[in-house]
Amino acid sequence: MKRAARLGLFTAPVLLLAASVGAGQGSAQFSAMPGVAHPARARVDYMLKCQGCHHPDGGGNLVNTPPLRGEVAKFLAVPGGREFLGRVPGVASTDLDDARLAELLNWTLYTFDRQHLPAGFQPYSPGELAKLRKAPLRLERAEMRAGLVRAIENHQKRAKN
Ligand code: HEC
Repeated sequence: MKRAARLGLFTAPVLLLAASVGAGQGSAQFSAMPGVAHPARARVDYMLKCQGCHHPDGGGNLVNTPPLRGEVAKFLAVPGGREFLGRVPGVASTDLDDARLAELLNWTLYTFDRQHLPAGFQPYSPGELAKLRKAPLRLERAEMRAGLVRAIENHQKRAKN
């Protein structure tokens, strides 16, 4: 009983959101997203698969989920960063096929951190994600992430000088 009520509470807002996303489909804001065949579908996939942790605005939280907004594309500027984004468990283990996952990851990059996309950014392809997600990161990811964050900081310092 309780469980059903909770589920009901959960689905109603998601459906409302999905409807409002559909209404925005085809508008100009979605035009420049190579590698994203259906931006509205990617957005709903984000709502269903990612935002529970990363939050609707990509802000994450200070306790256990890093922000995507204003941050996530910085990983693409350092060696190993591109692979890391395809291998973190939240991405690699998501219950979506390779094409939908590539679309969702590209959408995430454009939507939350377009300003840090490197010049000449090539969107993830389904084939690339198929390979990366075959090797999902486990406990080693914390250390790997810390190393990448240090590399990003150094990269930013160099860019300022
Ligand atoms: C259960 C919570 C959870 C879910 C669900 C989740 N993530 Fe994450 N995500 C994390 C955490 C925690 C990290 C930090 C790395 C790690 O420890 O896995 C992370 C890292 C990332 C990163 C690498 C950037 C960084 O700062 O480490 C990307 C990109 C990302 N997530 C995207 C997604 C996408 C896209 C989805 C949905 C398909 C998703 N995540 C679902 C918790 C989650």
